[in-house]
Amino acid sequence: MKVEIFENAEQIGIKVGSQLASAIRHNPKIVLGLATGASPIPTYDYLSKLCSVGELSFKDVTTFNLDEYCHLPREDKNSYYSFMNEHLFSKTDINPANIHFLNGNTDNDEKECERYNRMLVEAGLIDIQLLGIGTNGHIGFNEPAEKYTKGAFKIALTESTRKSNSIYFDENPMPTHALTMGIGNIMSAKKIIMIATGEKKQQAVKAMIEGEVTPKCPASILQFHPSVTVYLDKAAAALL
Ligand code: GLP
Repeated sequence: MKVEIFENAEQIGIKVGSQLASAIRHNPKIVLGLATGASPIPTYDYLSKLCSVGELSFKDVTTFNLDEYCHLPREDKNSYYSFMNEHLFSKTDINPANIHFLNGNTDNDEKECERYNRMLVEAGLIDIQLLGIGTNGHIGFNEPAEKYTKGAFKIALTESTRKSNSIYFDENPMPTHALTMGIGNIMSAKKIIMIATGEKKQQAVKAMIEGEVTPKCPASILQFHPSVTVYLDKAAAALL
């Protein structure tokens, strides 16, 4: 696990954004695994700017998002689909057919997860997976558990996740469940970029990097991945 520490979130956005931009230029048909949340926003801003001045194209890029809330309309401002549209997709020339999401509004969760697992394999697996970390060590919506899950699955969100994410839900109540890629899907990515910023992430970051590898801190499994770089600001890195 490589760890890089930066002064602030903006600097991480520039670093990770330029790294992703050169990966896209090098392989215009790259398959990206994308994350939502505050952590990747500066990176998406950086990429959006390059697209707006014609210095980068997402025309042939394929994306798979990590997770989506259950029973939240896709058009709701808090769906992860809306988040990605707002912060990245609408600002690029990406082909909508190349954008992949788990459908949290399916009436057959199992089939939907199987479909996603299959699509990932058909796309040739993820070249670069972007991740954030929850304050409880979750990645995607893989919450602390007794064992790791291989493929995509439905999860009941923990109290701590519901509390952290409820700040965004002022109109509709925060969903109780989500569909998420499993740890197996995430670990199949060829390269992983993890971003964590802010004081609230200190404990989770320490457990991920220096703690025991255990599904009780899902992100700790990243210690076993051959190509992970963790980008931290000084606040998130303070306990290392
Ligand atoms: C959410 C998402 C994760 C994200 C994490 C951290 O619950 N499901 O994919 O990485 O929380 O979010 P933030 O970057 O806003 O701290």
